[in-house]
Amino acid sequence: MSLDQNLKKILIIDFGSQFTQLIARRVRELGVFSEIVSHKKIKLKDINHSIKGIVLSGGPLNVYQINKYSFDKKILQLDVPVLGICFGHQILSKLNGGRVKQSKHREFGLANVYKKNNSLLTNNFFGNKKSKQVWMSHADQVSKLPKNFKIVASSTNSKFAIVENKIKKYYGVQFHPEVTHTENGKKLLRNFIFLICKIKRNWSSKDQKNQLIKDVRKQVGNSKVICALSGGVDSSVVAQLFNKAIGKKLYCIFVNTGLLRKNEEAQVVQTFKKRLKMNLIYVNAEKEFLKRLKNVSDPEKKRKIIGNLFIKIFERYAKKIKNVKFLAQGTLYPDLIESKSVTGSQTSKIKSHHNVGGLPKKMNLKLVEPLKFLFKDEVRKLGLELNLSKEIISRHPFPGPGLAIRMPGIITNEKIKILKEADYYFIKALRDYGLYNKIWQAYAALLPVKTVGVMGDNRTYEYLCLLRAITSEDGMTADYFEFKKSFMQTISNKIVNSIRGINRVVYDVTSKPPSTIELE
Ligand code: XMP
Repeated sequence: MSLDQNLKKILIIDFGSQFTQLIARRVRELGVFSEIVSHKKIKLKDINHSIKGIVLSGGPLNVYQINKYSFDKKILQLDVPVLGICFGHQILSKLNGGRVKQSKHREFGLANVYKKNNSLLTNNFFGNKKSKQVWMSHADQVSKLPKNFKIVASSTNSKFAIVENKIKKYYGVQFHPEVTHTENGKKLLRNFIFLICKIKRNWSSKDQKNQLIKDVRKQVGNSKVICALSGGVDSSVVAQLFNKAIGKKLYCIFVNTGLLRKNEEAQVVQTFKKRLKMNLIYVNAEKEFLKRLKNVSDPEKKRKIIGNLFIKIFERYAKKIKNVKFLAQGTLYPDLIESKSVTGSQTSKIKSHHNVGGLPKKMNLKLVEPLKFLFKDEVRKLGLELNLSKEIISRHPFPGPGLAIRMPGIITNEKIKILKEADYYFIKALRDYGLYNKIWQAYAALLPVKTVGVMGDNRTYEYLCLLRAITSEDGMTADYFEFKKSFMQTISNKIVNSIRGINRVVYDVTSKPPSTIELE
């Protein structure tokens, strides 16, 4: 295990929480470098002078399942401030002689915490109020505080909602300050970093860019790299990052899967080959993809087939360019969290994103995924720092499996043709009405259901088109965008009147969770 020795940092020890990366991200937003390590891997000898504070993350475990998690508890004996969050708070108490037990009332969602004592951690957190709303997600709780700890705040169900041991600089919170639902959560983290760990600001988008370029050069050395370019924000930023780091040793491969949006292939070739003058290989694999996907309707199977074929095609082209050892991908953190935990800790799997879960077990190319610790908005900032145009940077996300996962059921040429048109009209309308940049992601989907309609004097029996438009900060949670009735009428009429094959339009009003952004 080797940690960067040069930059002063906050070390985040991951116990498998879905929110561990959010903690890292909040720390970086506050202008301080942070690194995440798995609780299984970190050892006392890894802690060097660059670590100015330690955060113990939440996680799905129970502190008494000793054999399910390993943690070198000597790490807590160092003179470094520690903040335990949720499960981290429970371990901190347990390892210092406190007790943890199953709560009578499991707490999930919003709760109020009431101020009991002053603390550096809660400086300006309560303001002039006695309580604040926080976001809880736990089934166990601390039932007895260790010696020398005091209560800073309590909730109705958790007496020890915020605790501290001022001398040791140990702090514990039962809720999640890293999620936006916790009012002033960022203030708690700010207080921990600046008032308690006394670390100075040392991190910006520019530092991040330079660090990533350095890391990429170190990782790939003199080898050539193939980049899976889709033209979306993530792969465009990856391509430009490698372009700056290794120049002409980068070969971008753009695969037309037949599941792209209308005119997308022409636009990508125009931008990257003609405008940005990158090495771009255009592969038309439309027929190959559609053949393999014939009659497949299971979402996971679709994802796996597409992911596997992608890699095969890359490997095929890699052989043609000699000395290629690496495949660069624009995998982001939300893709990873929902497929498997970044650090190998235990988080539950939601779905296989094609550039993660769909990869074959044995692969000849090594993966380089420089964006895998970043969220979408961080990637956008990085892209601007790398001089990519606003037009590329502000594109809505488009998933690797493309229209395949916006077409539940089997995939046919007819359905693809209809869906491409519907999506085109929807996105065009969003741009025409000045709504595109207010929405985080929008798309049309084609549902495998036909319904009856009437056009002119004739009965129609055609597909149902679903429109989805969401607002989000990072793709982890999302809400539906509220359109005006006039816009909905216009787009519904436009789609039904212009496209043969659709006679009804519905709008998806579910949030994430409980739904996901894509349909499959
Ligand atoms: P979900 O549907 O999981 O989507 O809520 C979250 C974000 O990830 C995108 N997405 C993908 N991106 N490969 C990708 O590169 C994939 O397999 C994939 N699946 C979903 C999705 O469009 C949304 O922005």
